[in-house]
Amino acid sequence: MCGIVGYLGKKDCTKVLLDSLSKLEYRGYDSAGIAVFENDSIKVAKTKGRIAQLEERINHEGGIKGNCGIGHTRWATHGEPSDVNSHPHGDANISIVHNGIIENYSKIKSFLETKGYVFESQTDTETVAKLLDFYYDGDPLNTIKNVLGEIEGSYALGILFKDFPDRIYAVRKDSPLIVGIGDDEAFIASDVPAFLKYTNKYYLLDTNEIVVLSNDGVEIFDKHGAPIEKELMVADWDMEAAEKGGYEHFMLKEINEQPAAINATISPRIKDGMPDLSECGLTQEKLAAYSNIFVVACGTAMHAGLVGKYVIESIGRIPVIVDVASEFRYRNPIVTDKDLVIVVSQSGETADTLEALKLSRKKGADTLAIVNVVGSSIAREADMVIYTHAGPEISVASTKAYSVQIAVFYLLAFELAYAKGAISQEECIRLTKELQSVPATLEIVLKQDELCKYVASTLVNAENLLYIGRGLDYALSMEGSLKLKEISYIHSESYAAGELKHGTISLVTDTMPIIAVATQRDLFDKTVSNAKEVKARGGKVIFVSHSYINVDDDVADYKIGLPTIDDLLMPMVAVVPLQLIAYYTSVLRGNDVDKPRNLAKSVTVE
Ligand code: G6P
Repeated sequence: MCGIVGYLGKKDCTKVLLDSLSKLEYRGYDSAGIAVFENDSIKVAKTKGRIAQLEERINHEGGIKGNCGIGHTRWATHGEPSDVNSHPHGDANISIVHNGIIENYSKIKSFLETKGYVFESQTDTETVAKLLDFYYDGDPLNTIKNVLGEIEGSYALGILFKDFPDRIYAVRKDSPLIVGIGDDEAFIASDVPAFLKYTNKYYLLDTNEIVVLSNDGVEIFDKHGAPIEKELMVADWDMEAAEKGGYEHFMLKEINEQPAAINATISPRIKDGMPDLSECGLTQEKLAAYSNIFVVACGTAMHAGLVGKYVIESIGRIPVIVDVASEFRYRNPIVTDKDLVIVVSQSGETADTLEALKLSRKKGADTLAIVNVVGSSIAREADMVIYTHAGPEISVASTKAYSVQIAVFYLLAFELAYAKGAISQEECIRLTKELQSVPATLEIVLKQDELCKYVASTLVNAENLLYIGRGLDYALSMEGSLKLKEISYIHSESYAAGELKHGTISLVTDTMPIIAVATQRDLFDKTVSNAKEVKARGGKVIFVSHSYINVDDDVADYKIGLPTIDDLLMPMVAVVPLQLIAYYTSVLRGNDVDKPRNLAKSVTVE
């Protein structure tokens, strides 16, 4: 949801900003811009389109030379993508970039209009730029404090004042912003990958703390203006992690990184063959005592929760309610202090998930966050945190983050089931060992790349597609369906296989491919019957199941065979071909796989 960066140092600022912005394009990519101090005046370049177009424009206009500036890549909320709505906003005296939404911008705009201000864009951000101008008294800190007292909503702001060349001011509330610290240089950014090439050291900012980057160093002030010391964080992501590393797309790279990511996530949490999540304060006594577990998240993270539900309920025997965060937070959910609420988020910044978490805490529940980004808002807000170790996920379509999220749910379910006495220690050790075997199994599945590409070639011209499955296969097929639709733009839905005949089967024709996932052997025959029903009506069936199971021609047109591990863990294996099919379908349709239309990776607005 918009990426912001800022650089102060000895390097060519324009070059650094463009490079850093390209690492943040996953946050939004409909327009981009920079503002740089050149000979003590603020020079701005901005355009609708991608960073590459911005670079062209800058070069065309003769370049911008300087050592201090801010930049922005946009995901439109207020006003269509256009040159005039692009950031930075402001004038020759003040220039700002913004991520978030100013909720009371109309009121501020009307007020400023009465003071003679004229607005040219449709953005909420322009009101902040003009409000800064209105309050400007020669003291940037004081000016910013006054503006913070007026604006409502979420924001991460980077600000340049012409009177203070080679200084960047920045502040945040409910939108991410961090401060990168290099040798003789400093950055502001929405996320670590923006400056990872230059430094892995950074400060986290809390609400309304103001940071000032100057040639004297980095100073941080609390919301009352008093200077404060912050703990310096060190990201354990290396530069290669944020590069494509020879792959055509980040998505393909990230699919292939899944074995390593799962290993990195589960290994530190297995002691003497048993799962051990006590690092976050989740003891076995606590786990066994909860009445209900809620899983609240958005998008792919919510789908990980659905797998978690099936696994926890099946072996842990505790009711698990899964909800999308945007619904949960407004339906006055029946959550009590006897419950555990698990929020799941790759970015740790998703606005609805964050608010659902705050609501759950208010209701007295214990809260656990399963999060990938260290120090993110959700991680900081939750009572307990389990970090997934997927490394940076750049592709908008989430793959490795999903796999590590479900890996954590398995550990949690095993430990909970053992804590409740629902499974023996031997069984817990057996299941944990099976989970540890997943990375090696995935290496085998990843070799089916060509088969998945071939299957994708049969889907390229489809306009609609269905996924079906039962039990865990149904939970998984929801993710398969989302993956396909978000990057291929083919309409697709996921159905519980047994529900198909209650209406949806009327859509089946020879132009409607169906992907049937059948890895749960106790439900296998039933899913086969459902696939036959589809075939009998002319539908094309792609069947995903264990490789040793043969299916006849009246069941499937194509079969993807998977190595066999415990059925409970099969979603971890079966997700890979679903990801690859979505990926290759998108590639074959000529889409921008890593940056699908209309989407952004980190959704920090409601
Ligand atoms: C966006 C992304 C999805 C992601 C969802 C939740 O919609 O496009 O890929 O699953 O947000 O993001 P989170 O960072 O909370 O996991």
